[in-house]
Amino acid sequence: MHGRLVWWILAFGSCWPIALMPGFGVCRQLLEYIEAKGAADAQALAKALKCAPEVVVGAIKSIQTFENVINVAEVKQQLWQFTKDGQDALQKGSPEVRLMSVIPAEGIAASDLEASPVYKGLGDAAKPSIGQAMKNKWIAIDKSSGAVAYVRKVTEVPDETQKVLAQLQKDPSGKSTDDKVLKDLKKRKLVEQKSVTTYNVTKGSAFTTTLRKGEADLTADMLADGSWKSKDFKPFNLAADGVPVSRGTLHPLLKVREEYRQIFLEMGFEEMPTSRFVESSFWNFDALFQPQQHPARDAHDTFFMTAPETSASFPADYEERVKNTHENGGGYESIGYQYNWERSEAEKNLLRTHTTAVSARMLYKLAQQKPFKPVKYFSIDRVFRNETLDATHLAEFHQIEGVIADYNLTLGDLMGTLHNFFTRLGIHDLRFKPAYNPYTEPSMEVFSYHAGLDKVVEIGNSGMFRPEMLRPMGLPEDVVVIAWGLSVERPTMIKYGYSNIRDLIGPKVDLTAAQSAPLVRL
Ligand SMILES: *[C@@H]1O[C@H](CO)[C@@H](O)[C@H](O)[C@H]1NC(C)=O
Ligand SMILES: *[C@@H]1O[C@H](CO)[C@@H](O)[C@H](O)[C@H]1NC(C)=O
Ligand SMILES: *[C@@H]1O[C@H](CO)[C@@H](O)[C@H](O)[C@H]1NC(C)=O
Repeated sequence: MHGRLVWWILAFGSCWPIALMPGFGVCRQLLEYIEAKGAADAQALAKALKCAPEVVVGAIKSIQTFENVINVAEVKQQLWQFTKDGQDALQKGSPEVRLMSVIPAEGIAASDLEASPVYKGLGDAAKPSIGQAMKNKWIAIDKSSGAVAYVRKVTEVPDETQKVLAQLQKDPSGKSTDDKVLKDLKKRKLVEQKSVTTYNVTKGSAFTTTLRKGEADLTADMLADGSWKSKDFKPFNLAADGVPVSRGTLHPLLKVREEYRQIFLEMGFEEMPTSRFVESSFWNFDALFQPQQHPARDAHDTFFMTAPETSASFPADYEERVKNTHENGGGYESIGYQYNWERSEAEKNLLRTHTTAVSARMLYKLAQQKPFKPVKYFSIDRVFRNETLDATHLAEFHQIEGVIADYNLTLGDLMGTLHNFFTRLGIHDLRFKPAYNPYTEPSMEVFSYHAGLDKVVEIGNSGMFRPEMLRPMGLPEDVVVIAWGLSVERPTMIKYGYSNIRDLIGPKVDLTAAQSAPLVRL
């Protein structure tokens, strides 16, 4: 027959400091008790082991780490517990009996009674104790002297209340106490009913009183000295999770970047070298026919370098042609911007505001190679702008750029290329809107309907580089360059469901999220 023990603890008391964690001593005593008594009630057991309920629960948990030694069932129970007054009543006697100790046979004036230390010591239970004594017919009110006095009617005052409390302490379930009595005790605020979690412990199929920790690993030493023969081994837990493999992982932005890269490579594009974060204003702006008064060239929009503050040398003849084009069109069927171009403005170093600066360098290089050969270039890298930071804007982000240089390209070629590119991303149904960019003409913003967001969203910007940018480089007159760009962050946030860019990049990034981020399919 399996012994059965019921253990109780307060429902909120299931945490205990490490210092109280029971050692093997308590566990062994507990098991021996189960072995010997078979069945016992919780309190008898707590007394037998002379320890706090939480220590016992700790012991149960420890024993549970050994398989099948005990069975434990968690049971919720309604138990009766003593209030502060209830505990006092149990230990010192009920309030009404204690009250009787200051009421003599000849009686006591109400004012004297209330002034007595015993009465005061009863606290909140003092006043009700008078009512209880009257109800028990132990005292009576005497008003013959004008003031209220209490007189004693009996000599013996048996403490029934203390007796039932003692009974309830033995069996907190209240099953062995009369319901009416319980109700009365509750009304007198001596006891209250509380929900407690109990542990119902029974012998397990591998019950033993001697716990021995099994070996987890079969070691080379055990094999060598033969000690494995006398050891107990823990059974393999084939359902346990393995130790996570420590590995590097790609950040979501890099995963998205890689997808874009693959699409460009599939389309026969060549990657441009984008390692140059610091650029001169000349290549970032002037080469792109962006006038020196343009607001983007202000510290409000662009981060200028303090060291090194300037760049000194640009290809001399090219610089001259750029200067002339800005000032008067340089003879390329343009009148330019009609201002005096300053070399000092062009010399200012900055953190590049777009990867188009890289494209400008590459196109200039291309123009120097004769004869001209058509090219398809792309870049994906970081750019910097002095933005006001918010949930969707950071001062640095990644730009994707595609560039095609060929003879006689048209706007139709650009639209066709964009269709080809975005179709590979799974985006169809493009819409184009005329736009203005300083260095492309015509320019188009690209839109598409996004089913997830249920609206038309801007997905990129595009255009044909102006002759004022291309001709000074030395590209043949009938060579046209089409280009488009988009950010990496925006599609990544949509794809991975980020609403705040700071959760994606920066010091607040959750590294485990980056580690568990799924692969991306654009
Ligand atoms: C404890 O378990 C035994 C056997 O399973 C059962 O008879 C008893 O009712 C349980 N006690 C409680 C309080 O649930
Ligand atoms: C960025 O712009 C703000 C004004 O918008 C300006 O106060 C600040 O100095 C700029 N930061 C840098 C590094 O240029
Ligand atoms: C480009 O167009 C011009 C004018 O139509 C034409 O003369 C020229 O041959 C074309 N160039 C190429 C490489 O097709």
